[in-house]
Amino acid sequence: MTTLLAPGRSTRTARPRRYLMCRPDHFEVVYGINPWMDVSRGTDRDLAVRQWEALRATYLSLGAEVLTLPPRPGLPDMVFAANGGLVIDGRAYGARFHHAERRDEGPAYLAWLAQDVGAGPDRVVEPVAVNEGEGDFLVVGDLVLAGTGFRTDPAAHAEVQEVFGRPVVSLVLVDPRFYHLDTALAVLSDDDIAYYPAAFSPGSQSVLRRLFPDAVLADEADALSLGLNAVSDGRHVVLPTAAAGLAEQLRARDYVPVGVDLSELLKAGGGAKCCTLELRP
Ligand code: ARG
Repeated sequence: MTTLLAPGRSTRTARPRRYLMCRPDHFEVVYGINPWMDVSRGTDRDLAVRQWEALRATYLSLGAEVLTLPPRPGLPDMVFAANGGLVIDGRAYGARFHHAERRDEGPAYLAWLAQDVGAGPDRVVEPVAVNEGEGDFLVVGDLVLAGTGFRTDPAAHAEVQEVFGRPVVSLVLVDPRFYHLDTALAVLSDDDIAYYPAAFSPGSQSVLRRLFPDAVLADEADALSLGLNAVSDGRHVVLPTAAAGLAEQLRARDYVPVGVDLSELLKAGGGAKCCTLELRP
């Protein structure tokens, strides 16, 4: 039997979300730590702020709660809040950045999270191993998918498993353009993902096929517009407008794609998900 859905209708349900973001007041591309960053290209900070404000407004219009932390001068990539930590069950595991240029962001985010998730020694965990927060840790239901290869040390995968008591699945990234897990894989719901297979090692591709045989597979063009750097509430999927093929695949699965334009932040190799740290109660 075929069910025909009216356009714009979806039977999927959204779970209310709470996000942390950081306005790109000090955004610029002054160093190159991934292949997207070309320091000679120039950036338009006002445009970056307007695009970021539009992303924030999009989340609010979808019913999410959005908190912000103050941006700090001298930390141009601080806008990429996903890298600031990992928050599950109201507990925060801090980030420890691979590159010196971003190192001061770790304590800045953790200090903010310590206030938000509440005082108490077990609410906030200082990381030992190098890790870039939700850039390389993505929560799918009870599982945590964890990327390594460019930034996050596999030792951090073991730390996260110990801290949260959730199974952590290590995945190896092999294409430098997709240097964080959240550039190559998007969580759509508690049991559904989309990913770009060629960004992963053969063994990791096989793991993903076993765990998610029905996953959405993105093509290279959609991956290169950072289409997989998407934020889903289980029903609406916020992703770059340019990722048209992926949006079509999502619509066919009954999600509601919501397009955003973050062209300025793309110059630093970031998209919607990079700008967004989920605070899970
Ligand atoms: N320029 C930043 C970096 O290379 C971009 C970070 C993007 N964040 C993310 N979650 N993928 O570190």
